[in-house]
Amino acid sequence: MPLIQVLPGAVADQIAAGEVVERPASVVKELVENALDAGATTVDVAVEEGGHKLIRVSDDGSGMDREDASLALVRHGTSKIRTAADLVGVSSFGFRGEALPAIASISRFAMETSEADGHGVSIETSGGAVTATREAARRRGTTVKVEQLFYNVPARRKFLRSARSEWRAIADTLNSVALSRPDVRFSLSHDGKEVLSLPPVSSLRARVSGIWGGKYAGSLLDVDDVAGVVQVSGLVERPADVGTTTRRVFVAINGRSIRDIGIVRAAEAAYRSTISAGLRPSLFLDVRLPANAVDVNVHPAKAEVRFRDRWPVERAVEAAVRRALGSFDSSAMVGGRYYTTTNRSGMDFGSSAIEGVSILSPAQVDAEPLFSAAPESQDDEAHATVRTPREIPPLFQFKRTYIAFEHADGLVLIDQHSAHERVLYEEFMGALETGRAPAQRLLLPITLHLGPAEGDAFEANREYLEKLGFEVEGFGGSTLIVNSVPMPHARFDAERCLRETLDALTGDRVAGTATRHEHLAATVACKAAIKAGEELSAPEMRSLFAALRDTQLPAHDVHGRSTIVQLTWDELDRRFGRR
Ligand SMILES: Nc1ncnc2c1ncn2[C@@H]1O[C@H](COP(=O)(O)OP(=O)(O)OP(=O)(O)O)[C@@H](O)[C@H]1O
Ligand SMILES: [Mg+2]
Repeated sequence: MPLIQVLPGAVADQIAAGEVVERPASVVKELVENALDAGATTVDVAVEEGGHKLIRVSDDGSGMDREDASLALVRHGTSKIRTAADLVGVSSFGFRGEALPAIASISRFAMETSEADGHGVSIETSGGAVTATREAARRRGTTVKVEQLFYNVPARRKFLRSARSEWRAIADTLNSVALSRPDVRFSLSHDGKEVLSLPPVSSLRARVSGIWGGKYAGSLLDVDDVAGVVQVSGLVERPADVGTTTRRVFVAINGRSIRDIGIVRAAEAAYRSTISAGLRPSLFLDVRLPANAVDVNVHPAKAEVRFRDRWPVERAVEAAVRRALGSFDSSAMVGGRYYTTTNRSGMDFGSSAIEGVSILSPAQVDAEPLFSAAPESQDDEAHATVRTPREIPPLFQFKRTYIAFEHADGLVLIDQHSAHERVLYEEFMGALETGRAPAQRLLLPITLHLGPAEGDAFEANREYLEKLGFEVEGFGGSTLIVNSVPMPHARFDAERCLRETLDALTGDRVAGTATRHEHLAATVACKAAIKAGEELSAPEMRSLFAALRDTQLPAHDVHGRSTIVQLTWDELDRRFGRR
């Protein structure tokens, strides 16, 4: 008798189930994806006791006839691919023909399905063995009921967490699928109570509003960019909000919601210098690329994909998010914006939308040009002069600290120090990476006497400081003779800046050229920028405004703070009781 035996089908199914079904949420994912693959426009999910007791998914998709319903429960039975070649660029969620038999093998399972209203079939199985097949009067679509998950696999049952935490995982799973298909109606109930009811909508923002409310949806920034064959769209958190709310991350590749650390890191990299180190933004990203550039058959639960070439995808994501953060709309806001939307019958369904708040579509947000002046209005004398989007509006200084101007959406305040820091930071980064910053030769060199720690800081950074425009003649012992200095503004105090910079760099251990560049540029920018409390002339304000407008990230300083705060007209009107 040979030692090797081929395992019976039921055992093979249970083994497959070990990979496909990790917990109740995996069952929900597989069944909902099947419903979407069947073209459903409505998917209803009901669970009891965190899915331990019951998971039921009903859809109004294509349904199956009697023969297909039986084949669906056979391992490798699938309608989605025919040959291995079909795997390349497969656009359905499923393709292995494994989910249903795997789930059935570890539960008490029932499926009712019908291709046409009224004529259906119902199949019941227990541990994968068919116990009953009968006719069923059902409208078109499919309902799958999974009870007592893992009842025959005690080892797996032990790994289940509390009903509460399994329930949370189910809700997360459904949110992810719902985010990937805003056009489909979803509902979710737990222990008989409806927890989520999402009508079909036409945008990701509207779906986010349906799940987490109009205020949250309105606070997110639009991402929309194309780099080569990679298209990146979605919503990301405004830097000023990062760390103040629950972090939410959603990544979809060609409509498939997946986990991908590389893409998340690339998006986070775009936030560098706009948020404090250690904070992590919420992201909702939808990446599209040619189907043959992604392999979806690499993870047992289809939770990951493999890219033929990952680098351009990550770069496209980083660039797209950075572009979103560079928009004026990315600045901090007093009060907030609400996203509300109306369905065809004119009903408002943003779940936490407040009546009477502004209705702002993503397109409107997008169309708002950076630092645009207030729009022209013919019946308003004050706006009679013709302005282009690049013209500088009248600017006012308050508290010798803030520069204010009027914008189409509200009153805007710029922090003069933070804004100048951002301008200088980007200039200095350019100088460190590509060449030298403009420097001015001094008639009388500056002589600095340095302590030992400052001397060390100078030696460690000498090469970079020179690139920034500090030209130093010799350095022996404790005396530094500086011949040229950068000239960021008329009242720049080079000696004080250099001293404070060396002081700030003392004892620093920064690894890597990129981080060293960033660190030094930020430090010198901070010391060199105009300060709060300095009175600025009109031309100075204008040149600061123009320079800030030309930076990559005008709304953010280099320490994770805002350079710009908007007080929207909506907010003001609300506070004055005009709405
Ligand atoms: N809700 C549904 N409506 C209509 N047909 C369905 C539904 N669920 C499953 N099917 C049919 O049953 C087949 C088997 O489903 P199953 O989930 O086991 O495999 P799959 O979706 O093809 O691949 P995968 O194992 O990757 O999910 C599907 O290919 C499909 O034809
Ligand atoms: Mg499937």
